[in-house]
Amino acid sequence: MEKEIVFATNNLHKLSEIRRIMGDQWHILSLADINCNEDIPETADTLQGNAELKARFVKERYGYDCFADDTGLLVDALDGAPGVYSARYAGPGHDSAANMALLLENLRGVTDRKAHFSTVIALIQGEEMLTFEGRVDGTITETPAGTDGFGYDPIFRPDGHEETFAQMSADQKNAISHRGRATAQLIQHLSTP
Ligand code: IMP
Repeated sequence: MEKEIVFATNNLHKLSEIRRIMGDQWHILSLADINCNEDIPETADTLQGNAELKARFVKERYGYDCFADDTGLLVDALDGAPGVYSARYAGPGHDSAANMALLLENLRGVTDRKAHFSTVIALIQGEEMLTFEGRVDGTITETPAGTDGFGYDPIFRPDGHEETFAQMSADQKNAISHRGRATAQLIQHLSTP
């Protein structure tokens, strides 16, 4: 029988990736599914802090055990920026195209293009909070390529691959991605009796 858990997001891209990664055994409810349409504050200055904030918010206000993720793209030559501020790198209300354009502008002429994605998943069950982290290393391309995925995917090429995440199928990305790796640990924990 399917087991049920809340994923504290209304980001449809993340939801679809997580549903695909977690497979048939899990029924993943989104925030909309539990009638939470609030903007959950992400005021911490670390990925772990924000993931925990989101999970705790849902548990305290809505009463559900749940998990939440926070993801950042950390660029070596920019001292780890945009990092925890990846969603609003080009300013509040800006979209992924603006964030990518600013990042490429800030890396113009820079030869060290090493970067990594990091995802922290916070799981709250009853009183207990656990976190799981996944990371993938790669490089920032000179120009965007590909139309799949979301966010910074068109300008991130994982090490050992010729394509950006946005040029890969969902399954190819999930097999090696930050979110795929963090979720694998979550699944292992949830599956351990
Ligand atoms: P957050 O985890 O929703 O705060 O996401 C931070 C930023 O990173 C947003 O701009 C997302 O679009 C972007 N982002 C999150 N996950 C991914 C991913 O898997 N690929 C590319 N960009 C991502």
